[in-house]
Amino acid sequence: MSINNQINSGSTDQAWEAWGQKDPYFGVITDQKFRRTELTKETKAEFFESGRLHAEYVMQMIHQYIDPAFQAQKALDFGCGVGRLIVPLAKMVANVVGTDVSPSMLLEAEKNCVEADLQNVRLVQSDDALSALDERFDFIHSFIVFQHIPPQRGRDLFAALLARLDAGGVGAMHFAYSKDHYAPTHGLPPAPAVIIDKPAKTEAEAVAQDPNADPEMQMNPYHLNELFFLMQVNGVHRFHTEFTDHGGELGVFLYFQKPRT
Ligand SMILES: C[S@@+](CC[C@H](N)C(=O)[O-])C[C@H]1O[C@@H](n2cnc3c(N)ncnc32)[C@H](O)[C@@H]1O
Repeated sequence: MSINNQINSGSTDQAWEAWGQKDPYFGVITDQKFRRTELTKETKAEFFESGRLHAEYVMQMIHQYIDPAFQAQKALDFGCGVGRLIVPLAKMVANVVGTDVSPSMLLEAEKNCVEADLQNVRLVQSDDALSALDERFDFIHSFIVFQHIPPQRGRDLFAALLARLDAGGVGAMHFAYSKDHYAPTHGLPPAPAVIIDKPAKTEAEAVAQDPNADPEMQMNPYHLNELFFLMQVNGVHRFHTEFTDHGGELGVFLYFQKPRT
């Protein structure tokens, strides 16, 4: 595992490292039963079962809508957290790389990969330039990650990930795009339509206010025009989408393939 412990301070990265330290499983799925204090052998198994079902479903959708013969050889899970989706992916794909901005999440993911006896996983710390990744992938997956990254950063990361996808490679990436309470403005954010990466409180400030407070968890909608533009200029001709709704946070799960050259 490659960790440099460099966290972009005053950003969502700092908040995610705080989640990784305080409550990594609840940070991934915000259900009380996954709180560190509540987690049992059974609830942890349930947590990973949700990952297995997700990974199987994603592959099924790819075969149904994108490429019936697709078999990934080298997969990237962007924002892998504690490895919920890495564990099942590593059983389907020859080589899997998991990347996350939080060193503590990655340490937990490493423990889970060891527990699952996986030999084909590499875990690396992510940054905005993807500087720890020197390879390309034929499958890039990301679920419930971009929504937590300010779009000004996230759209550049999406472009960087598209550049890492091989010709003929498949992407399966999730983005939030609206909120159910935007109904009066037809799904658009009420004015001003500017989403600012407001500096997160420093951990010291947060702890001084309430030592038991949860870290911040931003929920950021993306502009679909920007995402579609990036896909099209990278040669994508068509895509399959499924809508998601996580407690009123509305999203799209985009499945697409880069053309074979
Ligand atoms: C809700 S969790 C989802 C984890 C995993 N995708 C899953 O579904 O089990 C979001 C993850 O995204 C990671 N993350 C947040 N910002 C990131 C960034 N800028 N680059 C990479 N990972 C990031 C967090 O540390 C966290 O592990």
